Amino acid sequence: MKQMWIGESVNHVGSSVVLEGWISNRRDHGKIIFLDLRDRSGICQTVCGPWTDASVYVVASTLRSEWVVRIEGEVKKRPDNMVNDALPTGQIEIDIHRIEVLNEADTPPFDIHESDGYEVKEELRMKYRYLDLRRKRLTSMLGMRHRIIHTIRQWLDQKGFFEVETPILTRSTPEGARDYVVPSRLHQGSFYALPQAPQQYKQLLMASGVERYFQIARCFRDEDTRGDRQPEFTQMDLEVSFVDREDVMQLNEELLVHLVETLFPQKHISQRPFPRLTYKEAMETYGTDRPDLRKDTSDPHELAFGWIVDFPFFEKTDGGGWTFTHNPFSAPQKEYVDAILEKRDIDTILTTQYDVVLNGFEIGGGSIRAHQPHVLRSVLSIIGYSDEEIETHFGHMLKAFSLGIPPHGGIAWGLDRLISLLLGEPNIREVIAFPKTGDGRDLLMDAPAPISQEQLNELHIAVEKKKDN
Ligand code: AMO
Repeated sequence: MKQMWIGESVNHVGSSVVLEGWISNRRDHGKIIFLDLRDRSGICQTVCGPWTDASVYVVASTLRSEWVVRIEGEVKKRPDNMVNDALPTGQIEIDIHRIEVLNEADTPPFDIHESDGYEVKEELRMKYRYLDLRRKRLTSMLGMRHRIIHTIRQWLDQKGFFEVETPILTRSTPEGARDYVVPSRLHQGSFYALPQAPQQYKQLLMASGVERYFQIARCFRDEDTRGDRQPEFTQMDLEVSFVDREDVMQLNEELLVHLVETLFPQKHISQRPFPRLTYKEAMETYGTDRPDLRKDTSDPHELAFGWIVDFPFFEKTDGGGWTFTHNPFSAPQKEYVDAILEKRDIDTILTTQYDVVLNGFEIGGGSIRAHQPHVLRSVLSIIGYSDEEIETHFGHMLKAFSLGIPPHGGIAWGLDRLISLLLGEPNIREVIAFPKTGDGRDLLMDAPAPISQEQLNELHIAVEKKKDN
């Protein structure tokens, strides 16, 4: 492992150091060569000249951008007139004693040193994402993303939460989007579905007595992607037993405030406690259920969190039936339980759903769940499932609910959305290490891709190509 981060060199004036990294830039000034050396932690200037061993000087003159090198030298204070205040290491430079080339590099397809990269065509950046990630903006994004997740984990751990992993190969669930499916080799004609969310498993964990669960969970939804949507994205998913709506909202509000105060002290939260609006108020006042509650939208440091509550449970489908607005596993608000059981006044029933919004984006949503089997059964019947279909698709949940499940509720944050807003990035692709294009392609790996006839045979799959393809 390397001995020192380049960013730390500034604290070692007078010492001999070994630094490893990439050549960011080479400047020949007659007999003096400056090499900017970069690693994850930053950049520092290294220098050789007539005073340097001639063989070392010759190597220095061959180095190009993105070559990987090990440089040994002495940390020297720069003369006052050479100090670069724009650089954290601008007080010092490294007088090179030795250079070892660890790897050469072709000329990169775009500049990664001078700019933030927004001007480079995004498809090109995605194809060479590993180069794009060397950029300072993206390196620090990865660092902040790591720190945000780490801070969430630490905070929830202190509150007694267990982080539990739930399956990726699972079964289709009604989360509102299309599933990604995976053919089974051993069970001909049967398919797994990738989870749209860990919703059912986290409720089953409440049936398992876990009581406080969370997961940094990958979710998969085959839907049209946009700036704030990816086909695969990350949720901070949690579920708690023996709670009411107030408890879950309070807990989440505390965690969000803790995150901002710990990691983004320069930001200010517009209003605390977070304002609460009913769905009706939000629609009437702002014309949307994810209003931008900022007082001053020109202020990049303002964070306007808010809660939206009292959503209608159901909405009419095009076919004249009913579907759920958010989550079929939600409980109705207490005063509407009878209406659910009697399947009447359906358009007036309110759900326990709460959404958390930030600066005009929905960054999370959850609810208290219907933990009594007869209530869930009635909801499923209202949205059009026959008794037989309920048994096929939800029999396992109803069974679990009949074996002693506590009242419970939870939430999931769209972690990518939250991070992009905290970092001031224009879309979630900028805060995902390896994002997909708008039409769901991974340009780096060239996925999706055809598979061999042999693999298709194994999976008992015949691909029928459309004529115009
Ligand atoms: P929901 O479907 O509202 O709830 O998802 C929770 C949050 O996830 C984010 N999100 C997305 N982010 C990026 N790309 C997407 N395609 C995408 N889809 C959703 C949003 C959203 O608020 N199981 C429930 C949660 C619960 O009830 O506990 C659920 O998944 O920020």
